[in-house]
Amino acid sequence: MAEPRGGTEGRPAPATGFEKGAGPAGEPILEVSGLVKHYPLTRGVLIRKQVGAVKAVDGVDFALGRGETLGVVGESGCGKSTVAKMLVHLERPTAGAIRYKGEDVTRLSGKALKAVRRNVQMVFQDPYTSLNPRMTVGDIIGEPFEIHPEVAPKGDRRRRVQDLLDVVGLNPEYVNRYPHQFSGGQRQRIGIARGLALRPEVIVADEPVSALDVSVQAQVINLMDRLRTEFDLAFVFIAHDLSIVRHISDRVGVMYLGRIVETGTDTQIYDHPTHPYTQALLSAVPVPDPAAREHRERIILTGDVPSPTNIPSGCRFRTRCWKARDKCAEEVPLLAVPEVFRKAGGPAAHASACHFAEEKRVVP
Ligand SMILES: Nc1ncnc2c1ncn2[C@@H]1O[C@H](COP(=O)(O)OP(=O)(O)OP(=O)(O)O)[C@@H](O)[C@H]1O
Ligand code: SF4
Ligand SMILES: [Mg+2]
Repeated sequence: MAEPRGGTEGRPAPATGFEKGAGPAGEPILEVSGLVKHYPLTRGVLIRKQVGAVKAVDGVDFALGRGETLGVVGESGCGKSTVAKMLVHLERPTAGAIRYKGEDVTRLSGKALKAVRRNVQMVFQDPYTSLNPRMTVGDIIGEPFEIHPEVAPKGDRRRRVQDLLDVVGLNPEYVNRYPHQFSGGQRQRIGIARGLALRPEVIVADEPVSALDVSVQAQVINLMDRLRTEFDLAFVFIAHDLSIVRHISDRVGVMYLGRIVETGTDTQIYDHPTHPYTQALLSAVPVPDPAAREHRERIILTGDVPSPTNIPSGCRFRTRCWKARDKCAEEVPLLAVPEVFRKAGGPAAHASACHFAEEKRVVP
């Protein structure tokens, strides 16, 4: 089977979840189409030769509305952080477009890029390593003002930083303390304050609570949810656990091996999943109610995730899918609303990249 250009095969009608009636009203603030990141694999000491590529992200499409939260979920290594890094311009895409308010920012450079970068900020996974231990909290949160002095004049920065500490629930008097004087949850609040400093419109949060104790996770998620309303922010919230994103997401995209394989509203994904991979992920979500737990069907996936250097033909999930048939090895399934559900309507009518999509309620 021919390898399509940029790994973006089957993209005549990418389902971003933003089709008529599928997403929130209005134009998306951020729109990603055919996003690809391939890292070259080289061999040789004196003469380096490319012998392949790590297809970390291999044709991702999604859109984000103003004030909306999109949860992106998938197993380790499926490309979530690589997508995040491309959104905030820490990595350059191999192919594809990232449109911010309609403009493709992958083509920008210099001043124009700097202006756009201000509006899309990132909160990192690990609050222990992402904060410079030798800088005070005030300097960490105020650092973005050094790059964008137009946002806060020098004389006003300390007050701005203290306001930000207050906004994220920390004592403004802590401004001269160092990161080691804070708990993990407090450090993540500092990371969030830094992300807010330039008053962005979009925050990309890459597993912002994964390194925190379960008891602290909910507090940080609630804080982000509050800030979303207060500052009219849109979030891309990345996690590997479906149970974490449910509380905060309006829509969810499920990623597998560099692609989004199913996307829909939180109700569509959690209560009416149609892709076998989403169903398997949901079957592993902890269910607190013991009675409900008994009725929950466990789907144990066999085999390992294939290497991103050697992606299976056809459906990339087929080597682990219990429903795989010949067609799955031959044809790449589109991320689109399956015909059978399109006709019938209802909550199963959402985008799913499966030839044999079937609704299955996994969590009772
Ligand atoms: N700079 C790089 N060079 C080569 N391969 C890379 C590079 N960065 C990431 N990769 C590979 O790309 C794939 C996707 O990595 P990525 O960090 O985006 O996954 P992830 O979904 O964020 O995983 P996790 O849940 O563990 O954070 C992995 O196979 C990874 O090894
Ligand atoms: S297309 Fe085939 S292999 Fe892929 S998820 Fe659907 S049934 Fe499974
Ligand atoms: Mg990651």
